Amino acid sequence: MFTLAHLSDPHLGPLPAVRPADILNKRFFGYLSWLRKRRAMHRPEVLAALAADLATTGADHLVITGDLTNIALEQEFSQVGEWLHSLGSAEQVTVIPGNHDAYVAVPWEASLGKWQAFMTGDPTGSEPINGAARPGPSPNPQKTGPDAFPFVRYRGPAAILGLSSAQPTPLFCAHGTLGEAQLARLSDALERLGREGWFRVVLLHHPPSLEGIARRKRLIDAEPFRKVIAERGAELVLHGHDHTFGKQTIDGAEGPVPVLGVPSASAASSGKKPQAHYQLYTIAQDAKRWRIDVTARGFDPAGGRFSETRRYSL
Ligand SMILES: [Fe+2]
Repeated sequence: MFTLAHLSDPHLGPLPAVRPADILNKRFFGYLSWLRKRRAMHRPEVLAALAADLATTGADHLVITGDLTNIALEQEFSQVGEWLHSLGSAEQVTVIPGNHDAYVAVPWEASLGKWQAFMTGDPTGSEPINGAARPGPSPNPQKTGPDAFPFVRYRGPAAILGLSSAQPTPLFCAHGTLGEAQLARLSDALERLGREGWFRVVLLHHPPSLEGIARRKRLIDAEPFRKVIAERGAELVLHGHDHTFGKQTIDGAEGPVPVLGVPSASAASSGKKPQAHYQLYTIAQDAKRWRIDVTARGFDPAGGRFSETRRYSL
């Protein structure tokens, strides 16, 4: 048995001091939004309670599906880097970026490059971890920068594929794109990992939904992404972005593939979106079939701590 923890959209606060020169762009409106409502919504004390709770679960690995920052300030990337190290080592934690982490274009080294260790694929020829299948190379082993997605990491029975749909977008837009080249690498990797018998976990920030989401917020190439999954298969797709629970299935090569999303990990509000949650996925194989037990753990504002709110099996 192997347990994966999944959190998303922590939107780490408080926002560092901003210089006027930093916000003479799209960030200005994001900054206003932070002051007006988001700083009351995304609370550091909720993240602290989440970290304390997570430490008690004995999860084997943690994945974070994007939107760790708010307006992609260089200081935010440093702040998030420190927070990631407080959660665990780069061996124990995997991260992908979200649209807020590409709010405006920032050079790689000053932005996502600061989290590189948490987004690096395992090198070619790394030792098999589950003792059964022998891991092949990542599509871009050890490569850094935007072309390094998807990276592949091997943890227990799971091959974790990290995608990036994060891109700078115009004002009031929050859509994402994977692009043809990344989808082609994803297709090749899924084919090989499926042949080798891995439990393939695909991480992307935007939900791969075709409807129910405004165009300005959606994954633009959701359809080609779903085509890759339909052709190659996957065992689990995890996302964030909506700040709410997501539970759908999409067609896979050997049957329906569960697609799960979680609320923001730092949400303290009792507005339209759920309180902060994270989920645990316990993965086991019986008679060649994978079984996934899902446990959601949510923040209780009265007690100031997380506890189990739902449990089901897939
Ligand atoms: Fe997002």
